[in-house]
Amino acid sequence: MCGIVGYIGTKKAVPVLIKGLLSLEYRGYDSAGICVLNNDILNVVKSKGRVKNLESNPELPNLTGSIGIAHTRWATHGIPSNENSHPHLDNSKEFAVVHNGIIENYTELRKMLEKEGYTFISQTDTEVIPNLISYYYKTEKDILKAVSLAIKDLKGSYAIEVISPLLPDSIIVARKDSPLVIGVGKGENYVASDIPAVLNYTTKFYFLEDNEIAKIDKDKISFYNNSLQPIQKEIKDIEWDAASSEKGVFADYMLKEIFEQPQVVMETIGSRLKPNEKCYFEDIDIDLKDINKIFVVACGTAMHAGLATKYTFEHFCKIPVEVDMASEFRYRNPLIDEHTLCIFISQSGETADTIAALKLAKNAGSKTLAVVNVIGSSITRIADYTIYTHAGPEIAVASTKAYTCQVVLLNILAIYFAESLGYSSKELENFKTEILELPSKMKIILDDTKLIEDFAKEVYTQPDLYFIGRNTDYAVSMEGSLKLKEISYIHSEAYAAGELKHGPIALIEDGVTVIGVATNPNLVEKTMSNLEEVITRGANVMVITNQDIPNMKINCNIRIPKCSSMLSPVLSVIPLQLFAYYIAKDKNLDVDKPRNLAKSVTVE
Ligand code: M6R
Repeated sequence: MCGIVGYIGTKKAVPVLIKGLLSLEYRGYDSAGICVLNNDILNVVKSKGRVKNLESNPELPNLTGSIGIAHTRWATHGIPSNENSHPHLDNSKEFAVVHNGIIENYTELRKMLEKEGYTFISQTDTEVIPNLISYYYKTEKDILKAVSLAIKDLKGSYAIEVISPLLPDSIIVARKDSPLVIGVGKGENYVASDIPAVLNYTTKFYFLEDNEIAKIDKDKISFYNNSLQPIQKEIKDIEWDAASSEKGVFADYMLKEIFEQPQVVMETIGSRLKPNEKCYFEDIDIDLKDINKIFVVACGTAMHAGLATKYTFEHFCKIPVEVDMASEFRYRNPLIDEHTLCIFISQSGETADTIAALKLAKNAGSKTLAVVNVIGSSITRIADYTIYTHAGPEIAVASTKAYTCQVVLLNILAIYFAESLGYSSKELENFKTEILELPSKMKIILDDTKLIEDFAKEVYTQPDLYFIGRNTDYAVSMEGSLKLKEISYIHSEAYAAGELKHGPIALIEDGVTVIGVATNPNLVEKTMSNLEEVITRGANVMVITNQDIPNMKINCNIRIPKCSSMLSPVLSVIPLQLFAYYIAKDKNLDVDKPRNLAKSVTVE
């Protein structure tokens, strides 16, 4: 879960690399480092902590070359320290490597290299890589060959960049199970863990596949398979513009991304949905009559999007839906076969557990469909079918706009399935119209955030908070609770409102805050009486609703526009995102980069 970036060209490498690292910091921020090749010497500067520490390191101006690699670290092996920071060099200081991923057999490799006389200065798994390359170089005298032999020895995941004075006009890169893109410029080329890191310089990208290697010169890129046979790859033009990955007028990326939601939801709907027309998904040709079960598999917020939309698939398509965490699904021998459709949801398309679950489903013969935000990411290359959310780059670690886009897209997919199965009804038509109305309703919520801001001020010092709801309101409560934990570090739980009296209500006492979500006309009375039960026990209550509710002692009543309860998560989640955001701000926390977390969880 680290971020890597590389540059080769005629500009000074350092400013490009620092800019790239700043944009990749969401992947980890325990330490950062740069290596620039100049006059046949590998010059390295590292700093513990955030990229800004590296940026202000007095040694950095000494790095003046035009070929460089850089890294921002999320510590796995070894504490955050200078020694454990990347880039790592081999003993002879001829090979510099940055690495994102985990080398599972590094202890074994380290022992083997130690027997050969190599010594190590860090506790990292990565340090074996430059030494392994050096070991093979001694016999092969060819860097590309040495890299290809070294990576054959690695078990685990990696995206690596290698530079060396022995090959002074190239960066060698390779990947397996960790993301890596190559940005193509004029007389210069870029490497990065993701597109936004170099989007300021180019919109043309190559996506390296697992077990592929590339030799990148400033005006030429050559691709090879793992036996070093040359291969051809297709260049892709990416529509995202650089401004979409900048903060603009907003104080934080998270706030910017919350406010972007009406726009990106509109883009996600795109031309897939039009009133009085059938929904349309190019290239999906699954025979739905042959499917008797749908599994929705994902992690974190993406999994919550699955929970929020299972009701739509069941309601309109009459196919049972099970939602599971990828980390559980992959280890529980799920009952799936060729009659199962497995839907995988992921913003990044790089989440290790989701990828493993997807591979398992494919091996079991199930049909696999991915709902992904990042174009060309690993999941899109494995799944049988991919549909894209159009959330644009999501930079804040806490996912917001990706979630609303996922919920909208899955709802549209459910309509498409229902229509493909031959279902049609007035309700289905109205549902389409309601989806088209969502962006303007989202805007109404975002136009007035004062009540939420005030309530956050009232409760931000509390140690625990509870969220309750039923049906889709329960799914959204889980997402609200996750957002709060992630960025405010307040302990919180989400419960199905009906479960309260089976145990959790014992936690409610004077002054405890309970957030109720009540948007389902058939269930509003039930949820409100659950809230009455906590009010009786002294709870401080905020309600998010679009229904007529009884007159009760509610401390904060957030009204949102009316819509089908199957779509309400798209609206009701917004006050919950803002609530978590304002609480984190009141606590003076870094909302974009919460502690211990990284944006893409590319390790298990
Ligand atoms: O990139 P993905 O959507 O696969 O990521 C899944 C989760 O890691 C992610 O949603 C995580 O829970 C977020 N930090 C939530 O805000």
